[in-house]
Amino acid sequence: PVNLSGQSYLRLLDFSTDQIEYLLKLSKNFKDLKRTGTPHRYLEGKNIVLLFQKTSTRTRCAFEVGAMDLGMGVTYLDPGSSQMGKKESIEDTARVLGRFYDGIEFRGFAQSDVEELAAKAGVPVWNGLTDMWHPTQMLADALTVQENFNYDIKGLKFVFFGDLKNNMGRSLMVMCAKLGMNFVGCGPKDCWMDDELIKTCEAIAAENGCTVKCTEDVKEAATDADVIYTDVWVSMGEPDEVWAQRIEQLQPYRVTTQIMDMAKPTAIFLHCLPAFHDTNTTTGEDIAKRFGVTEMEVEDAVFESKQSKVFDEAENRMHTIKAVMYATLQ
Ligand code: CP
Ligand code: NVA
Repeated sequence: PVNLSGQSYLRLLDFSTDQIEYLLKLSKNFKDLKRTGTPHRYLEGKNIVLLFQKTSTRTRCAFEVGAMDLGMGVTYLDPGSSQMGKKESIEDTARVLGRFYDGIEFRGFAQSDVEELAAKAGVPVWNGLTDMWHPTQMLADALTVQENFNYDIKGLKFVFFGDLKNNMGRSLMVMCAKLGMNFVGCGPKDCWMDDELIKTCEAIAAENGCTVKCTEDVKEAATDADVIYTDVWVSMGEPDEVWAQRIEQLQPYRVTTQIMDMAKPTAIFLHCLPAFHDTNTTTGEDIAKRFGVTEMEVEDAVFESKQSKVFDEAENRMHTIKAVMYATLQ
């Protein structure tokens, strides 16, 4: 039996296939409880704190609603409103918050920061995104794939287009290798993840009867795909100057209706969100003015299509984050 009580959740690499599958089952249970309106205040009397050094909609709200549904108290500290990082070190912050709270969520820049927090806090720490990893997103993505493929996801062709080396590309490659899906990363060589991570994932994939690979060939990647995934071309924390180069490099890897047509007719489209698919935002307007492009990583037609499951995926953040909190705090 899987027991994650007292553990932190910092990166998927540290978790076994059994442990991930257990968290996915738990997530499905929590989703059923929510759907049927069944109270599940299993963690009544506990309190958690959410520490954000970057902005968020989904992750923050998933942790807040999840905590409240589980009967917990929750404190949100936004980027800039605590002493951490300015007047107080991460180490001291961890030792203080660990005395007050039963669990700590952290979203920031360096993976070493969330690791230091976990080492010093004495309570479970959950990584709500760093420059390197986005482990809570992985459970929501895996659950969404399961729901669309009858909970039988081994052997599916999972293709990620764009900036493969970002937190999402790296995390999805690990997720696929652990869960038996064939991962294809498709983007310019410049944007591939490091060789060491590819090698690590190849070895994990071999144990689970699947493969991982990277390619620049859009047709090869898209053909017969079951899941087509993309993410923003410029991630939080990257300098504004990278926009011009990324747009030039990544245009051929935009997820278009032509790409969806090469995939299987049953294929689904996923995106962790926020997505840049029109100019309805201030960033969108600004980019359109500066570079003359009105769509980025995904065409609006794909984003709005029936194959797009991005809002189910977003909802699943809440159910899966609840599972992580429950498993580690029970
Ligand atoms: N997908 C995701 O992490 O969204 P937020 O940045 O809104 O939390
Ligand atoms: N790669 C994106 C993911 C956002 C959820 C970023 O880090 O900004």
